[in-house]
Amino acid sequence: MENVNDIIDNEGRSIPDHIAIILDGNGRWAQRRGLPRAMGHKQGCETLETIIGDCAKLGVKYLTVYGFSTENWKRSEEEVGALMKLFRFYMVKLVKVANEHNVRLRMIGEKSRFAPDIQEGITRLENETRDNTGMTFVFAVNYGSRDEIVRAIRKYTIEALKSGKSEEEIEALTEQEFAGYLDTAGMPDPDLVIRTSGEFRISNYLLWQSAYTEYYITPVLWPDFNKAELLKAIDDFNGRERRFGGRLKK
Ligand code: IPE
Ligand code: IPE
Ligand code: MG
Repeated sequence: MENVNDIIDNEGRSIPDHIAIILDGNGRWAQRRGLPRAMGHKQGCETLETIIGDCAKLGVKYLTVYGFSTENWKRSEEEVGALMKLFRFYMVKLVKVANEHNVRLRMIGEKSRFAPDIQEGITRLENETRDNTGMTFVFAVNYGSRDEIVRAIRKYTIEALKSGKSEEEIEALTEQEFAGYLDTAGMPDPDLVIRTSGEFRISNYLLWQSAYTEYYITPVLWPDFNKAELLKAIDDFNGRERRFGGRLKK
């Protein structure tokens, strides 16, 4: 396997550097039990806590999880309200979980749409875990790839205008430089994206960053996802041959 970090677990698995997850199926999990959707989200938060710990112990370097999309505001006021309430509660809990596993926290997405206390909370949890040296847990909230790309273009253009960049200098913009304007600046691209609950779509997640990412889709609903399912995804990934546009080696 190439382009994978040097971490091999005690069962011989090569552990991807960067795993990204589209956690999906919370609503269906609750509905199947006759529970309100919010209960599915609550259970989903418990799963997330466990998976953060599992990934950190396995030696994953970056775990990026899609928690709330720029399109999720379309949901009922009741559901959005329940999600914000959970977010407030778990933000505090997340710091504890992160410190327990030496994990650094980072948020990606557009923060200004959140209530001021949530925005402050985000800054606090990034600061409070800054010195941890283990895995980085990246939480994508009010995140949408198209929004991220447009924000990056705005930022680049404003900087270019302010610094009086010439047309020639603008023409010289590289992919690498542009990636530095995205929310994920400085992070490696994901090696593996896992989507739970059986949906075969990207839903506006890491479009730029997942150009050569391997996808793994499981029918398991997020609240039922666990370490065994995570290892299945990693095993599947271990069987892939990544070519990055090059040729088959056999
Ligand atoms: C994922 O679960 C969590 C969020 C998108 C916030 P869903 O709420 O999308 O669950 P389903 O897809 O309706 O089952
Ligand atoms: C994607 O799930 C967003 C998150 C997991 C936060 P959705 O449930 O919103 O995606 P669609 O609507 O099924 O594509
Ligand atoms: Mg869904």
